[in-house]
Amino acid sequence: MDKESIILQTKSFVYQQLHDDATGHDWWHIYRVTNIAKKIAVIENADMFLCEMAALLHDIADEKLNSTEEEGIKKVKDFLSSANVNEVYVSRIMEIITTMSFKGGGNPPMKTLEGMIVQDADRLDAMGAIGIARTFAYTGAKNQLIYHPDMDPVEKLDKEQYRNRKSTAINHFYEKLFKLKDLMNTDMGKEMAESRHQFMKEYIVTFFIEWEMN
Ligand code: ADP
Ligand code: NI
Repeated sequence: MDKESIILQTKSFVYQQLHDDATGHDWWHIYRVTNIAKKIAVIENADMFLCEMAALLHDIADEKLNSTEEEGIKKVKDFLSSANVNEVYVSRIMEIITTMSFKGGGNPPMKTLEGMIVQDADRLDAMGAIGIARTFAYTGAKNQLIYHPDMDPVEKLDKEQYRNRKSTAINHFYEKLFKLKDLMNTDMGKEMAESRHQFMKEYIVTFFIEWEMN
């Protein structure tokens, strides 16, 4: 198994699948997540090939990009077998990306070190300056408001209602972004999350100062 050639083939497959996505899963999200994952993998002495492959493929099977979960999983499996990735790696990669993508029943804990690393990397890319940019990009793509004083987070909706509800970009900070810091798995993830979290908090403070003009 030629790992270098498989990585190149995977990059080109993922680029082709995601380059025109506008829901926050574009190629450059994958590029950043892969770089963060590789950085943490060095420190954690993890399997670099597994981290890089799982990071590159982590959003391909996402329910937002496929009509069914099965279809997304099949797409990734078919690709891996066409690239001659060995069976052990195929199942390790699939284990990570399926646990990460499908959030039914809460966020299942990752079982492997490599899974924890890729999940940290994905969450870190939702935080800090980049995370703020992605949030407003998503909000624009969904035709939602940046903020509305009367729209509080809605807690008691089921999964479908929750996905379809009208929210605002600022709500998203409270519903998700400010919670990410405490969900980090690795020490380096925690450390990186700390500064990104602080930056988002400062951003929100300034946002409300300007909103109220005081
Ligand atoms: P990923 O699976 O890569 O973590 P998501 O599909 O959850 O990404 O979201 C893609 C991007 O859009 C992330 O930056 C996320 O914070 C942002 N996002 C997701 N849902 C909302 C929302 N309701 N309002 C604003 N931003 C959102
Ligand atoms: Ni992602």
